[in-house]
Amino acid sequence: MDRYGVFGNPIGHSKSPQIHRLFAEQTGQALTYEAVLAPLDGFAEAARAFFVEGRGANVTVPFKEQAWRLADDLTERARCAGAVNTLKKLDDGRLLGDNTDGIGLVNDLTANAGVELQGRRILLLGAGGAVRGVLEPLLAQRPAALVIANRTPARAQALATEFAARGPVSAVAFADLQGPFDVIVNGTSASLGGELPPLADELVEAGRTFCYDMMYGAEPTPFCRWASRLGAQCRDGLGMLVEQAAAAFLLWRGVRPDTAAVQAELRRQLQ
Ligand code: ATR
Repeated sequence: MDRYGVFGNPIGHSKSPQIHRLFAEQTGQALTYEAVLAPLDGFAEAARAFFVEGRGANVTVPFKEQAWRLADDLTERARCAGAVNTLKKLDDGRLLGDNTDGIGLVNDLTANAGVELQGRRILLLGAGGAVRGVLEPLLAQRPAALVIANRTPARAQALATEFAARGPVSAVAFADLQGPFDVIVNGTSASLGGELPPLADELVEAGRTFCYDMMYGAEPTPFCRWASRLGAQCRDGLGMLVEQAAAAFLLWRGVRPDTAAVQAELRRQLQ
């Protein structure tokens, strides 16, 4: 049977094995998918050993940049992201690196939540790896403006400069933001510590602004609670997790799984 897996450290918490097994069952694909705990200083060796037989792998924290360097070839979106979350062994044995995080976010926003991105003003919070990974796919949707705001403004400015040729992207300090925005995406890790970036209430227009937190949990995140208090809809990142997996599955198997049922099952287990 074709062998797939996910590399990370730690890896025990990963939902990828369950998601891909559900996709395989649903689409009738014969494959195995395992969690691989790679040593912190031994990702490349572990990946090379796996790919003697393995056909494809996902890569998670802290190995996405190392996977980018390991790949023999990169998709355009992975090249821009500077990180790889999906590896595929090509017929000639070379490893293709892709990054499906950004398309996962875009698909969850557009196809699942029905949010239009083209021509809209989007605010993106954060300037770390999570934000870098979604910039190219978001700009490919041709928003009217994509504004990056970050606690450390220089990091946001560096990203805006790097991606300037790809669309109308700019960096603005939190204190200087002019709202409201059509869409606000939280790509900071603030929710992990139960915190919220310093956001003015006027960034949201009740009933119109759509908020999205790349983080998720059993309870609404602090960012989603902030959005709800202001009368905005908010969606957490569980859908993005399932959609990035579906895009990887499509790359490997040429079949697009139905994500709705899988997302509902994961949500049920979170509660
Ligand atoms: P990742 O790869 O997950 O994006 P990262 O590179 O550590 O992780 O980036 C975390 C992001 O969350 C950064 O944009 C960080 O802001 P700084 O660049 O100023 O560090 C942001 N962040 C983390 N905690 C935050 C908080 N409490 N308030 C606001 N922003 C926060």
